Amino acid sequence: MQRIPLIAGNWKMHTSLAEARELATAVVSACKGLSDREVMIAPPFTALATVAEVVRGSQVRLAAQNVCWAEQGAFTGEIAPGMLQELGCSMAIIGHSERRQIFGESDVLINQRLAGAMHFGIIPVLCFGETLAEREAGQTMAVLERQVRLGLSGITVAEPDRLVLAYEPVWAIGTGKTASEQQAQEAHEFVRNLLFAMYEKSIAQQIRILYGGSVNSGNVDALLRQPDIDGALVGGASLKAESFERIIHFLQ
Ligand code: PGA
Repeated sequence: MQRIPLIAGNWKMHTSLAEARELATAVVSACKGLSDREVMIAPPFTALATVAEVVRGSQVRLAAQNVCWAEQGAFTGEIAPGMLQELGCSMAIIGHSERRQIFGESDVLINQRLAGAMHFGIIPVLCFGETLAEREAGQTMAVLERQVRLGLSGITVAEPDRLVLAYEPVWAIGTGKTASEQQAQEAHEFVRNLLFAMYEKSIAQQIRILYGGSVNSGNVDALLRQPDIDGALVGGASLKAESFERIIHFLQ
């Protein structure tokens, strides 16, 4: 069975409600008639309800940029899985490098978020990736192994489409410096083999691994042609309707 490519837009802390509505409307229309790929957008929490109205009934999936593990309670500043689901949100980005680096989220915390999301039926997009210093020190694969193993610690996967991974080298995020197709494929293949060591073959084979880090309309085709790259997690280029549309329509 082939993995269905997933193109995901991470809007980060951008868009007013009016901008979110306009951008989501453009994404919905760009997706019309596409059946061989999936598309997800992750607006900021404040725009989720607005964007939910726009994507309702379309094939565009709505995601949050983070999620708490608990059903409810004293977790100031956090959002529960059920609150997201009430808005029509079925996916959540977890462990983005900005959460790790700026907000100090640890592998243990990220694992807790991921377990909670899966427990309540939210599909997590688990992000991981090395910094430039780690790459230059030859630690890339060790970092990826640590982040993936700890992030997925104790997680059983019954349906491979209920979990998505995203390799995002920190040095490529928002810098305009993309990993070459070879660098990205090498990391993805390494993570795929890790999945084979952790899960049954039929599951490991089907889990999608996205690439993220300065993906744009000019480099998406070559990246997604790599055998272990199953989609893209796009930041900056997902904020412009035209460039995201071209990325959605990447050439297989
Ligand atoms: P970028 O961001 O495409 O702007 O590099 C990607 C991400 O952080 O998910």
